[in-house]
Amino acid sequence: MNTSSQDQTVNGLAPVQDSNLGIAVSIPQTSLVKSYNYSSLITEQDCHDAMACAQSIIDAGNYFKNSPPYQTQENVFGRTEPFWLKYRMTFLTSVFLYLGKEHRVANMMAWVYMTDRKTQPDRNTLWHHHNKHGMKGLSGILYLRVPASAAGTEIAPNGPEGNGKFYIEPNSHTWNIYPSEVWHRPGLNPTDEFRFVLAADIGYYE
Ligand SMILES: [Fe+2]
Repeated sequence: MNTSSQDQTVNGLAPVQDSNLGIAVSIPQTSLVKSYNYSSLITEQDCHDAMACAQSIIDAGNYFKNSPPYQTQENVFGRTEPFWLKYRMTFLTSVFLYLGKEHRVANMMAWVYMTDRKTQPDRNTLWHHHNKHGMKGLSGILYLRVPASAAGTEIAPNGPEGNGKFYIEPNSHTWNIYPSEVWHRPGLNPTDEFRFVLAADIGYYE
C-alpha cells in the first residue's frame, strides 16, 4: 500500500484543556496515542463521501437511540464503497504499525459520530472506553470534519478522576490509535456545524 504513514506520537497531541471550558493547561508528552497520516491516499472527496454516507444513515433513522446523538447504528467498515476500503485498510495498517507487527484479528468495526452544539449532552456524562470484550484491543479516531472552534478528543490516561488528561488534535486524514481500555470523551463543539468523527475498534489475538 502506498501511504505516507508516519508516527507522530508527539505532534499528534494538543494541549490539555480544561474539561468543559477549553482552557489549555499543559502539553504532556506521551506514547499512548500514535497518529498515522494518510493524506497521500485519502482525498477530500473520500472525506466528503464518508460524511455524506454517514449523514444518509442517520437521516434514515439508523442511529443508536440509547447513546448520545448521532452515532451510526451500522458497521461502516462492512460497506463496499471504495472510500470505505481506504478507511478500513488504513485503520488496519495503523493498528499493526502501533503494535509493531501483524496480529490475527478477532473482530473489527467502525461507526461515525456526528454532533453539534445542540445535540451534545453534558460532557460529564460522556466519559467512556471501548474495552467491551475483555480481550486485547485498540481503538482509532479519524476526524472527518471538525469546526474551527471545536476540540478533538479528550484522553484520560488515568481515568476520568485521574490526572494527565490531554486532547488529540483534530488532524485530517489521520488515524489516531490508542488502547481500547483508555477512558476518553468527545471534545466540546460550541458551534451549530456538525463535527464528524470516524471511530473504529479492533480486537486481536496476541
Ligand atoms: Fe469513544
